[in-house]
Amino acid sequence: MEFSIKQSSPEKQRSACIVLGVFEGGQLSHAAQILDQAAGHPLSKLVTRGDVTGKTGNTVLLHTLSGVSAERVLLIGLGKAEEFNAKQFLDALRTAFAALQKTICKDAALYFTDLAVGQRDEAWKINQIVLLAAESAYRCDQLKSKPADKPSLRKILLACAKKPGNAAQTALHQAGAIARGMKLTKDLGNLPGNICTPTYLAEQAGKLAETYKLKATVLEEKDMEKLGMHSLLSVTRGSRQPAKLITLEYRGGDKKQKPVVLVGKGLTFDSGGISLKPGATMDEMKYDMCGAASVLGTMQAIAEMGLKLNVVAVIPSSENMPDGAASKPGDIVKSMAGLTIEILNTDAEGRLILCDALTYAARFEPDTVVDIATLTGACVIALGGVASGLFSNQDALARELAEAGEYSNDKAWHMPLWDDYQQQLDSNFADLQNIGGREAGSITAACFLSRFTKNYRWAHLDIAGTAWKSGKDKGSTGRPVPLLTRYLIQRAQAAK
Ligand code: BES
Ligand code: MN
Ligand code: ZN
Repeated sequence: MEFSIKQSSPEKQRSACIVLGVFEGGQLSHAAQILDQAAGHPLSKLVTRGDVTGKTGNTVLLHTLSGVSAERVLLIGLGKAEEFNAKQFLDALRTAFAALQKTICKDAALYFTDLAVGQRDEAWKINQIVLLAAESAYRCDQLKSKPADKPSLRKILLACAKKPGNAAQTALHQAGAIARGMKLTKDLGNLPGNICTPTYLAEQAGKLAETYKLKATVLEEKDMEKLGMHSLLSVTRGSRQPAKLITLEYRGGDKKQKPVVLVGKGLTFDSGGISLKPGATMDEMKYDMCGAASVLGTMQAIAEMGLKLNVVAVIPSSENMPDGAASKPGDIVKSMAGLTIEILNTDAEGRLILCDALTYAARFEPDTVVDIATLTGACVIALGGVASGLFSNQDALARELAEAGEYSNDKAWHMPLWDDYQQQLDSNFADLQNIGGREAGSITAACFLSRFTKNYRWAHLDIAGTAWKSGKDKGSTGRPVPLLTRYLIQRAQAAK
């Protein structure tokens, strides 16, 4: 989809469709008032008649109004004016795009950027409009023998009363990059495990490197052996697919600036291994590489933006399968950091590949390390699909990430990482064990990772509940690309 922003008056705008907001009780938004006046009050008449209520979810599509250059006018209910907030704004946009997608319109002009939404600035509104438009156009037909009907809607104009400034243009450009990054993340996430293997992810990283002039490196199992990554290697033992450790370096900042390192869990299929998962919904474990996919999507987005920041992606990728060679409950392995780990449950494999990747991340002399992982079912129970779990060894970093999530409507909730939980990982036979019992499962998983991140500023995002949706609308969400890109944009701003 193509996006542009410009000053435009609704009655003169030549588009297939003009989209205007109306508040509950029939109070027209400013742009709707202007059009109503120019066209001889057709909107006011519909309000009086009761067709246009302005209630949330109310949509009315009008054709060929006299005095209006556009072919159609779509009216969207905004809800109560006094209560108009970010959620109502976003709900109205979702309604608008769903309605537009049902028409044959190739282009539309939205008069939404001038609506006052609490303290939210213009850049925020631009971002949300672009991301929701892209969301409504997303189709996953990569593997259908006939492509899905392409959405007819191709162009969106963000119409403003005043000429938009540089900040608005930058926001539009960045939002487009984020939307494309999310598309990459969704496409990778939705691919099945027989196609999206560790090798496939490595190839995708190579393609990104070629397109955006990044540096990609792929470590093979023999390289990992030399580095002593026996924890990571223990996970891939039961698989026929070779594991990969993928790194991708984007150097947009000062040479001396220490990078932000993003570590993404890349389990291309998690069967549980010998601690085999139950069969129902096991297909969803193809999504166990969504951390990796979100890191690749974020790298693409910031490279496209040309962000002035150094960012390195580290992606440990493997399958977790049962087999004669697979790890068994009770096995003890030595991690790259030297700590020995008793594997009490082979299904707690994410932390086993992440711990060696986190140790490896220190090579890049990071300023900050953020790992992103579909790590625990317990996090889904705690926070559902609304917020990702957020853990950190530094409160200021947790605050920055939580704010980035709040801003981008890609929420993350700060969870505790108190030492009181660490004892749940005590092992009788090794330095630690890989599970901490039923209680506080997402926290003990984070505690496990914290043992390997003592030498740098670190945060962990558990995206088990937010990376994909189950049920009828099953599919990857592209989260937390909005959160991560917002965080990095803020970091680049601060580095100036
Ligand atoms: N990939 C899963 C986590 C997961 C489960 C994400 C369900 C989304 C939905 C992870 O590798 C896993 O299996 N974790 C176990 C850990 C347990 C054995 C301590 C879990 O959450 O059940
Ligand atoms: Mn698992
Ligand atoms: Zn897993």
